[in-house]
Amino acid sequence: MLELAAGSGRITLAVLPFVRSVTAVDNSAELLSILQEELAKPERVKNAAKVDAVLADILRLELTDQFDAVILGTTSLCLFDADQRRSLLGDIQRWLLPGGELLISLRTPELGGSDFYVHEVSPQLAIEESFDVTAGTFTSKLVERNDAGERVAEYSVTTHLLTEAEFRAELGAAGFAVAAAFDVGPRNRADAIGNYKLFRAHASAAGAGIKEGHTHG
Ligand SMILES: C[S@@+](CC[C@H](N)C(=O)[O-])C[C@H]1O[C@@H](n2cnc3c(N)ncnc32)[C@H](O)[C@@H]1O
Repeated sequence: MLELAAGSGRITLAVLPFVRSVTAVDNSAELLSILQEELAKPERVKNAAKVDAVLADILRLELTDQFDAVILGTTSLCLFDADQRRSLLGDIQRWLLPGGELLISLRTPELGGSDFYVHEVSPQLAIEESFDVTAGTFTSKLVERNDAGERVAEYSVTTHLLTEAEFRAELGAAGFAVAAAFDVGPRNRADAIGNYKLFRAHASAAGAGIKEGHTHG
């Protein structure tokens, strides 16, 4: 399995018992080192050798291997603009073995009538979301507060807004057919904002994204 944008291995560690190997790629050395620390724990030793952690930009990744499955979770496709998404989905086609599957998730935030939302997760934690509909982006900011309610840390990420219809169209243009879609996500948590879906896709019969030589006669 190839996991793109694996980060500290939240998904890597969950799938590890069920797969032969995982190539976990991320461009954050800090996050990959958290994964490696976790893999060094005695309870993980049995499966640790299955993981190949690769520090790389997934938009410039050179891979010679092909995989039964590629995972791009946590709506990470939306980190990239349209050209980058097209290029990445094309690369994923090449990294999949024939019959291989792409597992990819998408969160579609609800735009509602406002361009700023605050989601109070706990007294210590809030998520602030601001939408820039003109730019087609939204910024999620995680705000940590101390007991006095003062902001002590903030982490933010800006991603591209992509509707499910746009996402499915991009998958189709890259030569993927969606085999199944599942509603997922933290439904019962205060930070469950918008819709979360996981898609299983494989190369479509039309194979728009696959370059294959045909001979006639
Ligand atoms: C939302 S996190 C998801 C991490 C992990 N999949 C999880 O679910 O916990 C997005 C990840 O994408 C990584 N990332 C962002 N841009 C990247 C790029 N161009 N190449 C590789 N990794 C990238 C970040 O370092 C981060 O770990």
